[in-house]
Amino acid sequence: MNPFLGKFITLEGIEGMGKTTQLNVIADYLKQKNIPVMTTREPGGTPIAEALRKIVLTDTSESIASKTELLLFYAARLQHYENLIKPALEKGTWVISDRFYDATFAYQGGGRELGFEMILPLHHWVLGEFSPDLTFLFDGPAELSIARIQARNLEHKIQNDRIEKEKGDFFERIRQAYLALARQQPKRFCVLDSAKSKHEVSQEIIKHLDEKWGKGI
Ligand SMILES: Nc1ncnc2c1ncn2[C@@H]1O[C@H](COP(=O)(O)OP(=O)(O)OP(=O)(O)O)[C@@H](O)[C@H]1O
Ligand SMILES: [Mg+2]
Repeated sequence: MNPFLGKFITLEGIEGMGKTTQLNVIADYLKQKNIPVMTTREPGGTPIAEALRKIVLTDTSESIASKTELLLFYAARLQHYENLIKPALEKGTWVISDRFYDATFAYQGGGRELGFEMILPLHHWVLGEFSPDLTFLFDGPAELSIARIQARNLEHKIQNDRIEKEKGDFFERIRQAYLALARQQPKRFCVLDSAKSKHEVSQEIIKHLDEKWGKGI
């Protein structure tokens, strides 16, 4: 539930599936319609949340407990929600976030095998019933994800981060957890096939936005 004036759209899916690419397409489309839009990402979005992002993504010699990782993500998320997302939505600005809480259910719940049930009490304590209006899930196999990350990181000469270093079965568990979330909440989720071309995916997104809010935008 989003009780505020602006709409809240989130983009989810395993690495390299096209979230950031399509985030810009959605923002440009809404701007063309004169809708005030703000884009952001998780983990991060505010200075404190970005500092927490560095902690969770940096590969250090100290291992991180799955529950520590979970708490850090929710600490970052609450800063993001209170100081950026909520004030923008209250003003009527639409917010598009590159990942939000579904990522925790998929990565920590599915990938790290904590399960959804373990996360729910913390989730409700932090966010209550707040939820995106629409979530695009960029779905594709782990092999496609790994191939795209390698290509992108080689192109930009960057090292894989701590999470990108995980093996294929970790990403496959995350993918399955995302698909389970989409089946549980079919009204909120729009599942996209990331193996299609960038242009085809953009077209599907725009079609979905028009169908959902055509009269309002
Ligand atoms: N539909 C597509 N077909 C082919 N290549 C694509 C497609 N979408 C994105 N790419 C390319 O794949 C790479 C990863 O895309 P992008 O960074 O948008 O993914 P992401 O989901 O944001 O990844 P991450 O979770 O790592 O941030 C980029 O090099 C991008 O140009
Ligand atoms: Mg991205």
